Amino acid sequence: MAERAKPRAGGLDIVRSVDALRARVAAWRGAGATVGLVPTMGALHDGHIALVRHALARADRAVASIFVNPTQFGPNEDFTRYPRDETADARMLAAGGCHLLFAPTVAEMYPPGFATTISVGAIAEGLCGPFRPGHFAGVATVVAKLLLQAGPDIACFGEKDYQQLQVVKRMVRDLDLPVGIEGVATLREPDGLAMSSRNRYLTPAQRRSAAAIFRVLTAIAERLRAGESTIAAAVARGKAELAAAGFDQVDYLEICDAAELTPLAALDRPARVLTAAWLGKTRLIDNLALEPG
Ligand code: PAJ
Repeated sequence: MAERAKPRAGGLDIVRSVDALRARVAAWRGAGATVGLVPTMGALHDGHIALVRHALARADRAVASIFVNPTQFGPNEDFTRYPRDETADARMLAAGGCHLLFAPTVAEMYPPGFATTISVGAIAEGLCGPFRPGHFAGVATVVAKLLLQAGPDIACFGEKDYQQLQVVKRMVRDLDLPVGIEGVATLREPDGLAMSSRNRYLTPAQRRSAAAIFRVLTAIAERLRAGESTIAAAVARGKAELAAAGFDQVDYLEICDAAELTPLAALDRPARVLTAAWLGKTRLIDNLALEPG
């Protein structure tokens, strides 16, 4: 029997089974409503709520999912300590106008015998790829499942995780999944730091250093736009500036084709500057659009 949706404080319903999710979406569709999906891992902040708002601007109903997906975390990553607070998350989603929260268990998503993996090829192999083996296959697989479970008209993803957004777009195109993928601009703190669930790991001193990422990316964009620097020189200077600001390690700082994510030698097409860098045990990522020269 299908699980009934349970009303929660603030008017947000929560379902935990795929059957209950499908029943809710089918009822909306039967009434002629369109549906937007916002996949998340919880520990929500205003950046996530911007995705909900984007979904509501383009669809009649918004569904958010919260699932801390074990298959996208490496063995030495923060899966067990990833922040989890469903009550606070549900309150934020309700305040943002979200209609339904899908919060499945690991057993619901990965029942015994689960064996299929979606791997997306070259677009997942650069940038974060080598530093997080298996990460984008875990993301692609869980996102494919969420899209097939919810069957939305659109699904919204942040530009904050730019490589993830391109991986999802490619997977949807390659597999002919009938959904529109919407990229949403990165929401930032007043000092420019991209909002992230992982920012809460930062000590006050690290939090001050963290703002350097946006400053450095902005400076690179400006130097290239003004024709003041080659790509190689801008990247080298940016890495030195991150180190000077207190970053312990820079995994990469690269300028890439905005869709293919291949490294560029010249700004002759839509491009993006992307970085991943560590403050202590916390890895931060960010990226910015570059204007063609
Ligand atoms: P999570 O890190 O919770 O992010 C959920 C969505 O919120 C992603 O699309 C992400 O890009 C977006 N987001 C995060 N910070 C943002 C910001 N500051 N501004 C705008 N959007 C922001 O990304 C994941 O979860 C997972 O990999 C997931 C796609 C849910 C698959 O498990």
